[in-house]
Amino acid sequence: MTTLRTQVAIVGAGPAGLTLAALLHQAGIESVVLEDRSRAYVEARIRAGVLEQGTVEALERAGVADRLHREGIEHGGIHLQFAGTRHHIPMRELTGGRCIVVYGQTEVVKDLIAARLAAALPLYFEAADVSVHDFETDAPYVLFEHEGAAHRLDCDVIAGCDGFHGVCRPAVARALSTFEREYPYAWLGILAEAAPSSEELVYAHHEHGFALLSLRSPTLSRLYLQCRPDEDLGEWPDERIWEELRTRTALDGWSLNEGPILEQGVTPMRSFVAEPMQYGRLHLAGDAAHIVPPTGAKGLNLAVHDVCVLADALADWYRTGSRAGLDAYSETCLRRIWRAEHFSYFMTTMLHRSPEGDAFDERLQLSQLRYVTTSRAAATSLAENYVGLETI
Ligand code: FAD
Ligand code: PHB
Repeated sequence: MTTLRTQVAIVGAGPAGLTLAALLHQAGIESVVLEDRSRAYVEARIRAGVLEQGTVEALERAGVADRLHREGIEHGGIHLQFAGTRHHIPMRELTGGRCIVVYGQTEVVKDLIAARLAAALPLYFEAADVSVHDFETDAPYVLFEHEGAAHRLDCDVIAGCDGFHGVCRPAVARALSTFEREYPYAWLGILAEAAPSSEELVYAHHEHGFALLSLRSPTLSRLYLQCRPDEDLGEWPDERIWEELRTRTALDGWSLNEGPILEQGVTPMRSFVAEPMQYGRLHLAGDAAHIVPPTGAKGLNLAVHDVCVLADALADWYRTGSRAGLDAYSETCLRRIWRAEHFSYFMTTMLHRSPEGDAFDERLQLSQLRYVTTSRAAATSLAENYVGLETI
């Protein structure tokens, strides 16, 4: 077995792990990133697309925002559609100039990987059998296999950035409380070679179920339909997908642009939080610690926020020896996480059609939708949450 040594061992090369590695590098702190998948797999995984301004600023700090500034598309509002009418929420105006940037998670991940490899910093893809040890002591370590050889990575701290199905949270399961909600629906998402049909995102509530019109570029649309959690994609030929999208987003004088479907998949919907997000010298960040349903566009943004807090706390600890930031890590992150959990739950339950719901639920949803689209106070609250105002 080879023994390696670093300051921070990072498990997982998703947005959380890669952004943490980049922020630590900027602060002069060494790290090693271990990822169990291949580079091609990680770079092709299509997920989120909405970046809050705070996330853009974090990526600037991490030194990986050049392409994001060139290709990201700034949006100052979103649309909510119901009962055959589309309503604009002018987020920029309601939040004192805040907006969001549409830029795919795949692109963020590609930029972070390219920067790390260009700087010749350690990032192991296809690291097998990763396990974390002795994090309750001052000498934690990680074991893993790479290209057939066994390695031990000694470190000061372990960052568990290995997503919802990783190994870090299970390693501390005994010390955690978990809070969870499952939803009786999922999203069927497609990426289509079609110019976006709407300049800004459209969240549509319809009797057939929720639909979302989003985008990735001037030539690529990203579109979602509410479906069953156990939906069989075999029952969804392209024409059925387009027909359902047309029906759920129909509007007089407007039409949906269609084109070849490049990718499709089903995303389950879950709310989940593990508390606390730290145990000894193991800190969890991103999806490893919490999940939100995607309706609030918060998953990626929360992951980046966690690692900003962690990077600052580690920088403080290395510079001054003070553990104050590290000790407060979980509490600091959880404030924002629970706000995002509430907002994501609110958006999800307001916009989806529950298979368990009745006419009473439907009336409540329509009343809430009318309220957020007519009351300036309610629209401001929605906009503040959507753009991720720091003061929340
Ligand atoms: P991840 O991106 O999951 O990264 C974790 C990394 O750890 C992965 O690369 C994984 O391969 C690696 N890993 C796992 N186990 C191990 C191990 N044992 N050893 C080493 N490495 C390991 N959010 C939105 O806002 N909008 C969306 O539309 C949206 N769609 C989504 C669709 C899907 C299918 C999923 C799963 C999530 C979606 N999300 C969405 C959420 C968002 O993508 C996540 O919140 C975000 O990816 C969190 O980043 P992360 O780095 O914490 O976790
Ligand atoms: C996306 O573009 O993938 C997207 C946008 C907004 C959401 C979720 C996903 O709420």
